[in-house]
Amino acid sequence: MCGIIAYKGKKDASKVVLEGLKSLEYRGYDSWGIATVADSDIKVVKKVGKISDSTNISLASGNIGIGHTRWATHGSVTEDNTHPHLDCTGKIAVVHNGIIENYQGLRKQFSSHKFVSETDTEIIAHIIEDYMNQHIPFDCAVAEAVKFLKGRSAFVAVDSDSKKIVAVRKGTPLIVGVGEDEFFIASDITAFFNHTKKVQYLDDNELVVIDNDAEFFKAQGGKIEKRVVEIDWQPETAAKEGYKHYLIKEIMDQKDTLYRAINQDEEKIMSVASDINNAYGTFLVGCGTAGKVCMAGEYLFSKVAKKHVNAYVASEFPNYNHYLTPKSLIIAISQSGETADVLEAIEAAKKKSSKVISLLNVFGSTMMRNSDKYLMVNAGAERAVVSTKATTAQLAVITLLTYATVGKLQEGKLLLMDVAEGVNDMLNPRYEEYIKKLAEMLKDKNDMYIIGRSLNYPIALEAAIKLQETAYIHAEGFAGGELKHGPLALIDKGTPCIALVANDESKDEIISNAMEIKSRGGFIIGIAPENNEVFDYWIKVPDAGNASPIVNIIPVQILAYHIALLRNHDPDKPRNLAKSVTVK
Ligand code: AGP
Repeated sequence: MCGIIAYKGKKDASKVVLEGLKSLEYRGYDSWGIATVADSDIKVVKKVGKISDSTNISLASGNIGIGHTRWATHGSVTEDNTHPHLDCTGKIAVVHNGIIENYQGLRKQFSSHKFVSETDTEIIAHIIEDYMNQHIPFDCAVAEAVKFLKGRSAFVAVDSDSKKIVAVRKGTPLIVGVGEDEFFIASDITAFFNHTKKVQYLDDNELVVIDNDAEFFKAQGGKIEKRVVEIDWQPETAAKEGYKHYLIKEIMDQKDTLYRAINQDEEKIMSVASDINNAYGTFLVGCGTAGKVCMAGEYLFSKVAKKHVNAYVASEFPNYNHYLTPKSLIIAISQSGETADVLEAIEAAKKKSSKVISLLNVFGSTMMRNSDKYLMVNAGAERAVVSTKATTAQLAVITLLTYATVGKLQEGKLLLMDVAEGVNDMLNPRYEEYIKKLAEMLKDKNDMYIIGRSLNYPIALEAAIKLQETAYIHAEGFAGGELKHGPLALIDKGTPCIALVANDESKDEIISNAMEIKSRGGFIIGIAPENNEVFDYWIKVPDAGNASPIVNIIPVQILAYHIALLRNHDPDKPRNLAKSVTVK
């Protein structure tokens, strides 16, 4: 969350930073700001709203610049709270990603300074200033400031007198780009990839001082040498390819991405399967949608492999580290590979010397570097905040793993290939049009419920997330059997309810649950391989056996997209959210 970029070199920093910020917008789009250093002055431009919506941007030129695109944590979305933040003299500017957990105490401690924002970030500029007032050089003052900060974050500070940039990584990503007589620092390589492919990775609790060169230090002191790594992979550039939004493009991409997810290196899959078989306790951890994939994995391992694995919401996982041992295995599932809660779960596991394997979609991510092994789900760049193709790719890989653990990898592959073909046929304009009609019927509803059983219970929860974040509808997923224990009281005449049906042993029961809702006036949308008299609206999906979670979620993705359009929401950038969630 929040994107950072900094530049020092011969080019016009304002242009480099502006261009870099645009590619970091997925990290936060509440507001953005740029500070440029020219002579001994810092000029700051700040704007509320998305950088991609901003026009007539006028920036001061200079050879040093820092920029930030914000996802608000402390302080509302205002210009004052937009980064960069300055010290009292206006000579030091700071951009920051993360949370300073003890900022309230620090504001009291440094209360002689004049604070102009409600942010936690601003304290950094003032602590640096305080040390510089004691004749401590800028870079050393930054190192002193770091000692005060609690919580995960990364920040970049610039001083207009010394013209140095100092960047600190303390739990959230920052990468240094090395060009010809120029340096870049960013939250993500894509922000400077047009300029250089040479990078130096900052690790946690390290800082880099950029002057004429880049010098690296441990935060607690001591110089360190950093290798320059030439990136030999191409960060994926995502284009809308004629689609109006990334979201619908990425939904349609599932015609190909499933094949790519299934086409894994079999040796790697078998090696992870054997890690699972040898582990004394396997734990699947993820957040949000990836968390629901973990839950689906729990069901799949039980059903296909007769194996007990545990799914946890990553933010809660550190509470369970009491029983982890060096023989425990953690499988972290994450599209971005940067989600703070998952990184923290991995850290908790590593403290117990447990093994960590990640299922990722972004190459070079922090999680990839922090795991003992990783598998890529190969969905390609996912730009919409709402996860779609990465989700089904994760589901495909976890399904493959379940079959692989019982020596049936080829059987799993065949099943998934059939499903990929089914999805290919399903994603056609007529199908989308049919779901669009339903979207028109539902666009003014305030509440929607989704029910599923067995493998499709986690998918009911995932379907609810899709409708919440895209359509801003109050949607909730339930296990079909739970209705009579409370949720049925919510059903009124015309309440829309989606029943996720699979052609398996749960089918008759979920149909009965749909009947229970219908008898109380509910409007039943059945997502199922076959029609049923209980359905008021039937959306056909392929008969996918144990891969039914993959096919059942896709119609909901399309439905959520079209409701969002009808309600005039930006389907790619839902309010209050960001793609990469790097705060706890
Ligand atoms: C997905 O639609 C959501 N935006 C969100 O729940 C997401 O899945 C979650 O934040 C986890 O992200 P990750 O996969 O990058 O770790």
